[in-house]
Amino acid sequence: MPDLIEPVIGLIGGSGLYDIDGLEERAWRRVETPWGEPSDLLLFGRLAGVRCVFLPRHGRGHPTPPSALNYRANIDAMKRSGVTEILSLSAVGSLREDLPPGHFVIVDQFIDRTFAREKSFFGTGCVAHVSVAHPVCPRLGDALEASARELALPVTRGGTYLVMEGPQFSTKAESELYRQWGCSVIGMTNMPEAKLAREAELCYATVAMVTDFDCWHPDHDHVTVDQVVKVLFGNADKARALVKAVVPKLGQRRGPCPAGCDRALDHALITAPEK
Ligand code: ADE
Repeated sequence: MPDLIEPVIGLIGGSGLYDIDGLEERAWRRVETPWGEPSDLLLFGRLAGVRCVFLPRHGRGHPTPPSALNYRANIDAMKRSGVTEILSLSAVGSLREDLPPGHFVIVDQFIDRTFAREKSFFGTGCVAHVSVAHPVCPRLGDALEASARELALPVTRGGTYLVMEGPQFSTKAESELYRQWGCSVIGMTNMPEAKLAREAELCYATVAMVTDFDCWHPDHDHVTVDQVVKVLFGNADKARALVKAVVPKLGQRRGPCPAGCDRALDHALITAPEK
């Protein structure tokens, strides 16, 4: 168990967030992993003295769609870079009237409806079943909420993010079903990212940045890429301000994660060790 750590903050930027400004000692570096190539080079640097590692989830210029992302390489590249906690900054559609475009949701649950992605670092030979009952680190959630409120950003703490396979947006029937399930927002990327972060014993939290009302809202047109892009860049500016405010708070940690994210494998391995 780590007892004296220096936090390194991993930032995964979704659509519209391809760089982090204000980083000192910046350097884009290639990180190799046994799982293949991450989405892009990783950007290393410091914010207020705190080490940060940024990865544009879809690559700079957005060449890679959600189903083709190498989630294992992305998370492993972060782990190999010394990252201890990941903030995922992600564009989403809203499934609730009170979460309009421009709103930020610090989600605390996910429903994983993806089906065409590699979802685990473990497999034949070494079997592990980690708990993802609480997939978001509450300490990261607290820090994000406090920072968002300091900046007077429109923010809601808590909510369920429905992760769909895509790349097409949902049908109206699907959108209405997810609303009946009590979901708050919908997107295409945070699973298996959150599950893999847990397997890698990294704290993880998502800032879901609303761009649209998907296709269920009677008073709004169904979502289009044009509409998403229109809202995206305003959200990205707010996300950069949020990152600047939250990183110094997270940099203060010195002990283990109170929620145990950094010890997730302690009770997860079922394969007998080799004699
Ligand atoms: N990302 C942004 N808006 C979305 C939506 N409505 N559905 C899925 N992913 C999204």
